[in-house]
Amino acid sequence: VSVGLVPTMGALHDGHRALLRAARAEHDRVIMSLFVNPTQFGEAADFETYPRDVERDLAIAESEGVDEVYMPTVEEMYPDGFQTTVTVGDLAARFEGAHRPGHFDGVATVVAKLFNRTRPDTAYFGEKDAQQLAVIRRMTADLDLGVEIRAVATVREPDGLAISSRNVRLRPDERRRAASLHRAMVARDPSLVDADLDYLAVVDPETFHEIPERPGAIVVVAARFGDTRLIDTIPVERS
Ligand code: PAF
Repeated sequence: VSVGLVPTMGALHDGHRALLRAARAEHDRVIMSLFVNPTQFGEAADFETYPRDVERDLAIAESEGVDEVYMPTVEEMYPDGFQTTVTVGDLAARFEGAHRPGHFDGVATVVAKLFNRTRPDTAYFGEKDAQQLAVIRRMTADLDLGVEIRAVATVREPDGLAISSRNVRLRPDERRRAASLHRAMVARDPSLVDADLDYLAVVDPETFHEIPERPGAIVVVAARFGDTRLIDTIPVERS
């Protein structure tokens, strides 16, 4: 029996549905994990206000043919005495790692634990979180976890905004301005970002070193719209 795992923090949207469908198409058994992981949030406030709607998430999981929803509590994941962290090196210190210290330690550690607890053949992640994807690929290879990592294409709104759980926090004017992220990536022009820009760069998708533009490279962007920080990625296409 082959097992596909879709790790999530809930607040499911069409991007998650795409991950669930890919897993459903390729495996006998589909497990979705739903765990809002406190160790990957910088500020307690961001963790506490992260959108949560378990009833709706379970209904979506069922409608996408998920066999099992794995929903550990924080105490089950991190019992008293817990003190081990998985840290990925240089790759995880760049871009998002520099702006969100400790974030990728939290992600790498929880994903390693989720892999060990659910023993999947394949795990599915969104392309939008490109550096998370790279960190998880690196960690999985370096620790010989034996899980195949599959990236699934970003689902976008008609104006180009990548679908994300955090979009629900955008005020109407922020939502309108958020479409500028995609336009700026396409034009490779940071000045088009109508928000507080953290970075816009062309990078190697494995190392996150900045490289000259060429097919295979990706464009990454992060910006703050009021209290809401959004990130996005597009591939550099052959021209
Ligand atoms: O992308 C996410 O939703 C989370 O970072 C993940 C991979 C489920 C780990 O908590």
